[in-house]
Amino acid sequence: MTRLGVNVDHVATLRQARRTYEPDPITAASLAEQGGADVITIHLREDRRHIQERDLKLLRQVVFTKLNLELSAAPEIVKIALAERPDQVTFVPERRQEITTEGGLDVASQKKGLIPIVKRFKTQGIIVSLFIDPEEEQIMASKEVGADLVELHTGAYANAKRESQQKDMLERLRAGAQLSRQIGLGVNAGHGLNYKNVGPVVEELAAEELHIGHSIISRAIFVGIKRAVEEMKEVIYRHCLLANARK
Ligand code: PXP
Repeated sequence: MTRLGVNVDHVATLRQARRTYEPDPITAASLAEQGGADVITIHLREDRRHIQERDLKLLRQVVFTKLNLELSAAPEIVKIALAERPDQVTFVPERRQEITTEGGLDVASQKKGLIPIVKRFKTQGIIVSLFIDPEEEQIMASKEVGADLVELHTGAYANAKRESQQKDMLERLRAGAQLSRQIGLGVNAGHGLNYKNVGPVVEELAAEELHIGHSIISRAIFVGIKRAVEEMKEVIYRHCLLANARK
């Protein structure tokens, strides 16, 4: 059964819009866990646009499922992450002007730099995932740098305008997941997934974890976080059953 990672960054984005204390991503994480979240995901950005160090410290104490920290390979952030010891880290690319994480991490061109960083986390027993586009070069490089998992970027699939384009993207993701598993990497996926487009990803990828933020937090404004997470869990569960029935 594919597990659900709920990204609570957007709760912090709303708080930071007023530089106040509410809404609190810690409360959001607890409610998400009550709704069935299997993982809580946050991204501590270098520009501290949403999640702050205080959030990471408190979530490390409060989250009882699994804490997944997205981060860049910047030395300052790596140092904080090693000190706070999340259960899992996911390396993502970071650019100041981007609205959200755009492309996947170019692991192939950064192998030399990533190898010692990945090793430091693994030595501490922290699971290491790399957020990449579903490309052979990036998958092979992820294995070479010692990652445990890849998180396949589903943005191109989610943003595809035509059905044929979406099918092509889904096939690329499926092939990427297959290759990753063949060489011993676990498979997560995420970005741009919502209640409508998540089904085929669940069925085709059989990912370990899906990391979803924007659509769940958006729905939560109307139905509350617990309910929004429950609804996403239901969709994932239904599509897991469909995939199993087809085997
Ligand atoms: N996975 C990664 C690596 C991300 O950077 C993000 C965005 O923060 C997500 C998943 C979630 O994307 P979305 O908010 O579009 O669901």
